[in-house]
Amino acid sequence: MAELSELSAKLSEIKSQITSNLATITSSKGVYEYRKTVMDSKEGKIGSLMREMGKIPKELKADYGKMVNEIKNWAQDKFDAMDAEFKAREMKARYDKEAIDVTLPEKRQKKGNLHPNTQVRNQIVDIFGSMGFQIYEGNEIETDYYNFTALNIPQDHPARDMQDTFYLSPEFLLRTQTSAGQIHVMEAQQPPIKIISPGKVFRSDDDATHSPMFSQMEGLVVDKGITLCDLQGMLDVFVKKIFGEETSTRLRPSYFPFTEPSVEVDVSCFQCGGKGCKLCKGTGWIEVLGAGVVNKKVLDGCGIDSNVYSGLAFGIGIDRIAMLKYGINNIKLLFESDLRVLGQIDD
Ligand code: PHE
Repeated sequence: MAELSELSAKLSEIKSQITSNLATITSSKGVYEYRKTVMDSKEGKIGSLMREMGKIPKELKADYGKMVNEIKNWAQDKFDAMDAEFKAREMKARYDKEAIDVTLPEKRQKKGNLHPNTQVRNQIVDIFGSMGFQIYEGNEIETDYYNFTALNIPQDHPARDMQDTFYLSPEFLLRTQTSAGQIHVMEAQQPPIKIISPGKVFRSDDDATHSPMFSQMEGLVVDKGITLCDLQGMLDVFVKKIFGEETSTRLRPSYFPFTEPSVEVDVSCFQCGGKGCKLCKGTGWIEVLGAGVVNKKVLDGCGIDSNVYSGLAFGIGIDRIAMLKYGINNIKLLFESDLRVLGQIDD
């Protein structure tokens, strides 16, 4: 029996040791490490007791085993309880540390916006897109033929002057009008044709309302029985969507070599409603674009039979529409990239 009383003393010694050691532990990691030194089957204080079973006389083995198991369970429970307590505390500390204060006001991010020209271009594309127009992307560098000759602009026309056009060589130039794209489209395709063609154009011009580079949107419809009425109908829809439901259009006779008849299209003044103001210079009308019925010579030159088909064409100044719509009085403001100006226009 000496072995059992010896064991009993040893076990109470181990118990009090574990109790006092556990009191100094401060984390779940500490519990884990200490648990190993106690429970490990080779080196652990309790774990190794089982290995000593071999030395115990046979008749005492059962009691010995029972006592060792008891302390083993006791220690296990202690470690588990401590572990759970630390883990809960550590979790809470982590949550506290990583907590997000949802009431904190956010840092204001300045929202960007598209350039006014891009906004207007997109609006115009949407409007004509909804009427079934397709987009044709033309070339910024053109030949004299596409920009002038094929559009029935004769050799001695003033637009061909070096002072108005940027020539790259006697043959090549920077297109002065998106109308050059009309010819490419009509050469490549038989009617029905219904395209718009937005893009940059270049003219040697520079003042408050003119810039050497600006943007146009060409429109071209060719089919059987197309008349000026179709043009006015489409443009009426266009101005109502861009300038407001109460606006309407008026056609005035004009001249372009590639259209016959040719017209200037005015929109009723959206600022004064037609009474006359500074914007419309007292007339109640504002000129917004040039247009007309495609000249038979141009159709025939592109291989489209003008006895069968007729067409209409229009050219919208995108910058001009943006200036009118957003009250910009100098075209330079559209090219200076001053965010104080551009940031005000978010349509
Ligand atoms: N290309 C002409 C211009 O730049 C506008 C226009 C286009 C006129 C189509 C008639 C038809 O002034």
